[in-house]
Amino acid sequence: MDLIIEGRALVNGRLEQCCIGVDGGRIVAIKKDLRGAKRLDLQDRIILPGAIDPHVHLREPGSTHKEDFRTGTLSAAFGGVTCVLDMPNTVPPTTDLDRLREKRATASSKAWVDFGLIGGLGPKSDVLGMAAEAVAFKLFMGSTTQSNLVTESDDLQRLAGLVKRAGKVLSVHAEEEGMIKKDRVDDLEGHNNNRGPECELHAVRRLRELLPEAPVNVCHVTTVAALKALEGTGFTKEVTPHHMLLDERSGLAGRGKVNPPLRSPEERDAVINAFIAGQFDILASDHAPHTIDEKGQEFNSAPSGVPGVETSVPLMLNLVKKGRLDLGLLARCCAQNPGERFGLKKGRLAVGYDADLMVIDPGKVVRIKTDHLHSKCTWTPYERLEAIFPEMVFLRGDALIEEGNIVGERKGRDVVTAKLSG
Ligand code: DOR
Ligand code: ZN
Ligand code: ZN
Repeated sequence: MDLIIEGRALVNGRLEQCCIGVDGGRIVAIKKDLRGAKRLDLQDRIILPGAIDPHVHLREPGSTHKEDFRTGTLSAAFGGVTCVLDMPNTVPPTTDLDRLREKRATASSKAWVDFGLIGGLGPKSDVLGMAAEAVAFKLFMGSTTQSNLVTESDDLQRLAGLVKRAGKVLSVHAEEEGMIKKDRVDDLEGHNNNRGPECELHAVRRLRELLPEAPVNVCHVTTVAALKALEGTGFTKEVTPHHMLLDERSGLAGRGKVNPPLRSPEERDAVINAFIAGQFDILASDHAPHTIDEKGQEFNSAPSGVPGVETSVPLMLNLVKKGRLDLGLLARCCAQNPGERFGLKKGRLAVGYDADLMVIDPGKVVRIKTDHLHSKCTWTPYERLEAIFPEMVFLRGDALIEEGNIVGERKGRDVVTAKLSG
């Protein structure tokens, strides 16, 4: 064994004082007591699985003034996220095998946490050609930043069938393109009106009717009506921190412009309550950085998207501390469920899983400050909100972050090709 980490660990949904034995980057034993290797005693600090954020836009290639694989994955690491799945709407988009390979070469030379690359789909995509090297696939039903659209029912069915044959998951941006209004608006209420809850509900209903057996993950569900419409399907449901903590009245102007939009305060309340009640499967940041200058333009010209990979889990840990959210539920939504859904041996403190961990001191509540964050976009919609950042982060058995500093080597790798090579 290389290392024994001792503390209060979340094992099988319960916090237990125990020892986690690590060898070759994996968890090889979890016992009350373990001996025979270097020991790290964390006393009563809490050990959680590293989070898996299955929805980030790291902007490389093409928009590296907003973010790149280095800054995006550093940001992830400081937020307790040890694996990110990167979306394909880069410039050029990741829509064929060559582009997946190019992106992987870049990411492999820059990533601080593990990553998977999501293949982008358009009506003509060669799904099976990309399948061996993509962690999942993404499809946009409604237009947004740099998106390829798939709107026709027969295309949706054909593509979903191929994704299923490939044994992968299809993450869907569910907003009905034909219902999106393009009216000139100058505030978040107007944006919400242009792309109202009905756009999402209609898209979700269509998915349900067209693809009852498909391995669909519905991205960023923003309304309880859409959530209800997904009941009884095998689809997984993602929720974002911004749709739970921010709304059209949060005073963010163009900075709060995002697709699907921030909703009404009442809807936001209902969505966070549904999350707390365990009705969502996956917490995803939909980290979509744009620079503060881009976001500060007049409302119509401001691009859509908010950053969040570094603040997602810390904001939720603060809800746990306040007694509003169950820690076990949070760990399932931010680690175990995305791990299972996307076929990774990550996201659980269990034998055989990657030793990706975050260590929390629940007493250390801080206020979020842009200056302390690591994204290249240099702003956050959560300025001054309370959060609990991990004290330590481990990636495959090696300490990466300690007390706000990088202490380890950079060793992020592609989860798909790592699996192929054993
Ligand atoms: O607001 C959004 N921004 N929604 C998306 O679906 C894409 C994202 C981006 O890439 O900026
Ligand atoms: Zn989306
Ligand atoms: Zn997105």
